Amino acid sequence: MEKQQKPLVSDIMWVEKYRPTRLDQVINQKEIVKGLENLLKKPNELPHLLFTGSAGVGKTTMAICLARQLLGENWKRDTLELNASDERGIKMVRERVKEFASIMKLSINQQADERPFKIIILDEADEMTSEAQTALRRIIEDSAKTTRFVFICNYLSHIIEPIQSRCVIFRFSKVSEDEVVEYLKNICKNEGVKVDDKALHKIYEQTNGDMRHSINILQAASASGNVSVQQVQNAIGISGRSKISEIIDLAIDSKFNDSRLKLLELLNVYGVSETDFLRYANEEIYKRDLENPYEVSTILAEYDYRLANGAHPEIQLAAFLAQLGRLNLKSRKK
Ligand SMILES: Nc1ncnc2c1ncn2[C@@H]1O[C@H](COP(=O)(O)OP(=O)(O)O)[C@@H](O)[C@H]1O
Ligand SMILES: [Mg+2]
Repeated sequence: MEKQQKPLVSDIMWVEKYRPTRLDQVINQKEIVKGLENLLKKPNELPHLLFTGSAGVGKTTMAICLARQLLGENWKRDTLELNASDERGIKMVRERVKEFASIMKLSINQQADERPFKIIILDEADEMTSEAQTALRRIIEDSAKTTRFVFICNYLSHIIEPIQSRCVIFRFSKVSEDEVVEYLKNICKNEGVKVDDKALHKIYEQTNGDMRHSINILQAASASGNVSVQQVQNAIGISGRSKISEIIDLAIDSKFNDSRLKLLELLNVYGVSETDFLRYANEEIYKRDLENPYEVSTILAEYDYRLANGAHPEIQLAAFLAQLGRLNLKSRKK
C-alpha cells in the first residue's frame, strides 16, 4: 500500500473513512435500524432517544445518521454533539445545551422552519452525576417543543430513572463474528489489501464485536500491504502493550495529563478493556527497576479490587496513574 499524505482524519483513520453515513449502511443492529426508520416516518412525533450498549457497536454513528436523515443537508448546523465527560465539565455541557436549546426556540418562533426541531446528541451521558442529570431533565422539559435529545451511554443503570422514562430506549448488541469478518473483508478489498481469512477471525477473537477496535487493528496490521495472522498479532501487541508501556512511563514521570489522555485513547479508540490495562500495567511496572515495588503492588491491588467491584473504570484508572506519579520521587532509581 502506498503511503499518501492526506490531511483529513477521515482519510487517515479507517474507522472514520468507513463510518456509515446512512442507517441502512449500518451492519447488525437490524431491529434498531428498523425502529429508527419507522420513527423517521413521523419526524414531528420523534421522542427523545437513549442508546445503550458496549463500545464500538455503532451508537454514535447511528445518532449521527439519524440527525443527517432527519435534518437534511444542514444537519450540522442543527445538531449539537456533546460529550458529557468532556474535560471542561458538566457545567459547560449544561450551559451549552441550554444556550443551544433557547436559540432554537427563538429561531423557530421567528421563521417557519421546514424541519421540526434540532437534535442534541449527548454522548457518554452515564458520566454525568445524578445532580447534573437532574438539572438536564429540567432543560429537556423546557426545550421540549424545539429539541430532541439522543442520549448515549454504556451503562443504562447510570442514567437516572426520570431521564430513562422520558426516552425510547434502544439496546445495542455486539456485532457478530460473521458480520465483523465480512465487513473487514470489504474494507480490505476497497483498500487493495490482501487478507487471510484466519487473520480476520483472529481480530474478532481479540475484539469480541467491537467494530472500532476491529477496524483499528486491521488498519495497523495492514501497514505492509497484506494482513496475516502474524501481522494481526503484532498489531494487537502494538496497539496494546507498547501504548501501555508509554502510559506507565508518563505516569511515573508525573506527567499525569499526558498519561491520562493516552489512557482515554487506549480505552476508547483501541478498545482495550480496563482489566487488560491493569494486567499489562502490572507486567510493565515490574519490568522497570523500582526501588520500592511493594508500594506499587499495594496500589495495583487496590485498583484491581475497585474495578472488580464495578467502580467507574476511567475515573479509577486515572486515579491509579495519579498515584503512580506521586510515588515517583521515592520509587525511581534515577
Ligand atoms: N454497526 C456498525 N456498522 C458499521 N460500522 C460500525 C458499526 N459499529 C461501529 N462501526 C465502526 O466503528 C466506528 C465506531 O463506532 P461508533 O458508532 O463510534 O461506536 P460507539 O458504539 O462506541 O458509539 C465507526 O466509525 C464505524 O467505522
Ligand atoms: Mg460513541
